[in-house]
Formats: sequence, C-alpha cells, structure tokens
Amino acid sequence: MRLFYAIFPPRTVQRTLAEAQRSLRGNWKPVREDQIHLTLGFLGDVPEAELARVRRAGREAARASGPFVARVRGTGFFPGEGRPRVWFARAEGDGFEPLALALREALPEFLADERAFKAHLTLARRKGPAPRVAPVVFDLEFPVEAFALVESRLTPRGPQYTVLDTFALKERDERGKQRTAKGLAKHPQAD
Ligand code: 2AM
Repeated sequence: MRLFYAIFPPRTVQRTLAEAQRSLRGNWKPVREDQIHLTLGFLGDVPEAELARVRRAGREAARASGPFVARVRGTGFFPGEGRPRVWFARAEGDGFEPLALALREALPEFLADERAFKAHLTLARRKGPAPRVAPVVFDLEFPVEAFALVESRLTPRGPQYTVLDTFALKERDERGKQRTAKGLAKHPQAD
C-alpha cells in the first residue's frame, strides 16, 4: 500500500489556496481542492503486514506534540533553481518539524529520505511546458490539531486518497503535563 502521513487544512483554507490556482497557465496540473495537504512523511510502498506499526508510529508521534498554529504566507517552487516541477504554498509552524522527525525516527526504513523536510502544500505539478507562476501572497492561519495516515491509489484520473487513521495531537509526556498545568493545552491525557 502506498502511504503517507499528512495534515489536511480546513476547507476554507483549501478553498483560498485553490483560488490561487487560477493563475496557472500551460501544463500545470492543479491539485484537487479537497486533496490539498501538507505531507509530514511519504512512506511509499508499505507491506500490509507493517500497517499496524505504521499506525502505532502515528499514534506515538501525535502524543509527543501538542496542537499548534500553522501559517501560510507565500508560494515557491521545487526545485528552487532551474525548471520547476512543483508549485507550493509555504507553511510555517512550530510543530511541523518535530512531528516529521518523530515519524522519521520511528520508521527509518520508510522515511529516511535524504531530502530535508520542508513544510509545504503542493498546489500544482508541472506536466510539460509551462511558464513559472507569479508569487501569490496569502494571509492564512489554521490550528493543527491532528494529522492523518493516508493511502494513495494512483489512477488514470489522478490519485485517490483514503484516510486510514487520524491522530489527535496531545502531549502526554512531562512537558505536556506542565503545559497543560499552565492551561496551554487542554487536551485530556488519556486516549
Ligand atoms: P509533494 O506534494 O511535495 O509532491 C502524496 O503523494 C504526497 O507525498 C505528496 O504530497 C507528495 O509531496 C509526497 N511525496 C514525497 N515524496 C514523494 C515521492 N517520492 N513520490 C510521491 N509523493 C511523494
């Protein structure tokens, strides 16, 4: 099964990001509005026998970090130089990197990617000759309270995503208890 961990922003945020896709010209393929997401880790093909472990890794990573606020301000390209393949919205937020790292440490054989993690929401992929897209400025914020384990099936009509599991972010370690005591995290300590 082709799996990845991802954060899906609220529909209103997806809608605003999708509006920016109107400026695309040429062979850019926009990501479907309801599929716009931020990938925390792309596992690739995972044997079904490993699924329980992958779910557990998600659960444990979610327990190690509390909710946080994500901000989206601007756009960029991958690769940064030369001919772009991906047009994305850049995301900022304290929690992205710790989550991505926790998942990577739990499942090194699937997530040990040599590329550094860069929090982004892909807006379009270039499929052929197409001009660069002018920068777009957003002023978006949304709370990140959970992430998902998603199965991706590749079809001729594009990828089909199925959410297999959703993991609520809630700290359960010592740091979490302190923050809860200060009223910064109001989430229950138990599942
Ligand atoms: P991208 O949006 O930057 O392309 C599902 O395919 C998600 O996993 C996409 O959001 C994609 O990120 C990410 N991903 C990371 N590495 C990938 C790879 N080698 N093949 C396909 N998707 C990958």
